[in-house]
Amino acid sequence: MTMRLAVFISGRGSNLAALLGAQKNSGYQVVHVISNNAQAQGLEIAHENGVNNSHVLWKERDSGEKHALALLETIQPDLIVLAGFMKVLSAEFVGRFENKIINIHPSLLPLYPGLNTHQRVLDDQQSTHGASVHVVDDQLDHGQVLSQTRINIEANDTAATLSERLIEKEHRLLIKTVQMIASGQLSCDNGWRFEGEPLLKPWVEDT
Ligand code: GAR
Repeated sequence: MTMRLAVFISGRGSNLAALLGAQKNSGYQVVHVISNNAQAQGLEIAHENGVNNSHVLWKERDSGEKHALALLETIQPDLIVLAGFMKVLSAEFVGRFENKIINIHPSLLPLYPGLNTHQRVLDDQQSTHGASVHVVDDQLDHGQVLSQTRINIEANDTAATLSERLIEKEHRLLIKTVQMIASGQLSCDNGWRFEGEPLLKPWVEDT
């Protein structure tokens, strides 16, 4: 059975576009896109791809979440993917979808939650950087990390070059992680499991 995804975005939507581009015969389908930002480019991407999409006013968390919940009641997604969604969800909202919300974040979590991750790894003179897909809880960029991808930092890297190099890997990581959940290779049954065994550390994308 095809896994139904609701994707939450706030802006550009390149991760959404990547998910849409790879969804044929992949075990998942993006059935609805929700944005807290009416101007988000990702809403255009949804529209161009014929995917239902909604702008939810998120001035206050309570009203934003209430509206999103009402939509989700009708959408009935199997998984919610936060793909560049820049709002923190409440414990109550997350509790309704326990282990059913994942987020992609541009750092090797638990390092560097929050904004400006590329500049912060450079400021700290790190030699590696990366992206993580994690289960969402009510804290910012927090929750069990399911998968990661890494890049090496070169001497002449800037925040812009890191971001450019990482985003392609983010796309591949998100697609692969969603596919693994859709196929049951990654599953949540008394804790997260990879091929039936407890997931003790994140699955790592090597390519
Ligand atoms: C991505 O780099 C994603 O990892 C990041 O926002 C960008 C959205 O790009 N998410 C976070 O920082 C979450 N804390 P996109 O709109 O082109 O997919």
